[in-house]
Amino acid sequence: MTTGSKPKIILDCDPGVDDAIAIITACRWTEIVGITSVSGNVPVEHTTSNALKMKKLLNIEAPIHSGASRPITSEPFHASHVHGQTGLGNTDLPEPDGLADSDDAVGFILEKTREEEGIHLIPIGPLTNIALAIKADPSLVNRVASITLMGGGAGIGNVTSAAEFNIFADPEAADLVFRSGAQLNMLGLNLTHQVLMGSVHADYCYALDTPVGKTAGDLLNFNGRTHGTEKGANVGAMHDPCAVLAVSHPDLFISKHRSVVVELEGSHTRGQTLVDEREWVDTEKNCNVYYEVDSEKVIELILQAVSEVDPSG
Ligand code: BDR
Ligand code: CA
Repeated sequence: MTTGSKPKIILDCDPGVDDAIAIITACRWTEIVGITSVSGNVPVEHTTSNALKMKKLLNIEAPIHSGASRPITSEPFHASHVHGQTGLGNTDLPEPDGLADSDDAVGFILEKTREEEGIHLIPIGPLTNIALAIKADPSLVNRVASITLMGGGAGIGNVTSAAEFNIFADPEAADLVFRSGAQLNMLGLNLTHQVLMGSVHADYCYALDTPVGKTAGDLLNFNGRTHGTEKGANVGAMHDPCAVLAVSHPDLFISKHRSVVVELEGSHTRGQTLVDEREWVDTEKNCNVYYEVDSEKVIELILQAVSEVDPSG
């Protein structure tokens, strides 16, 4: 869907350096009907305030609703060592003018999707809000176009060798979402590690000499330094925008229908998304697992978003 109507989305996020780049990307390539925040990379006060800062920078009209302040059962787990103390690296965005539209992200998700069918839910943080919404009203999964999430991975983790951050931070929520019957798309680390961005892309953004370019440059530089998958290379995986672009530009990705379960026990594997790769076994498939991406094009679309989002209109 590169021309014509843009997909309607609710972006459920925990900004987060790459979440902030995902917000910029979503502004250009989707119609954002709402942003919900969740505890994740940093506590929810910060993820909400960071979403509000991005709303101000980009002049986003959609409402922002803050959500869960902690996982369903486990203790809060954050990643400020990767995203900076308050979550947006070393950006210097002004404090937001106001507060979130409400602190009821779950209520907003349920209400908005009743008002309008066919919205894509794009969770790019821990799945707490989404799980609580499904728990409150299981029919939610039938009226959304998809739940397209960044999280998990086929055979790779980052918090541990088995578990990716968004799933590890709230495995019980992820388990509920993966068993919900939703049209589920998983963009995990095996995919997002193919989309690497850092200082070279930051320089492109700085050269635009715009407020959005300056913030994106700071975010991309920070991402390269702290999120690096290759030590010292100043380049790191740009996870969250991949989920946005999988909805707006599905042709750039290759996925396979798989059976995926979330490991809740396991002394070494809690939070793992266990993907059944056995083509010859007839298991019930609950998820599209994403494997391949046109990385060059995805990076081009992210940079195009940075240069083309127009806060004035
Ligand atoms: C995911 O975890 C967070 O730190 C990032 O924002 C991304 O959503 C990558 O594992
Ligand atoms: Ca995130």
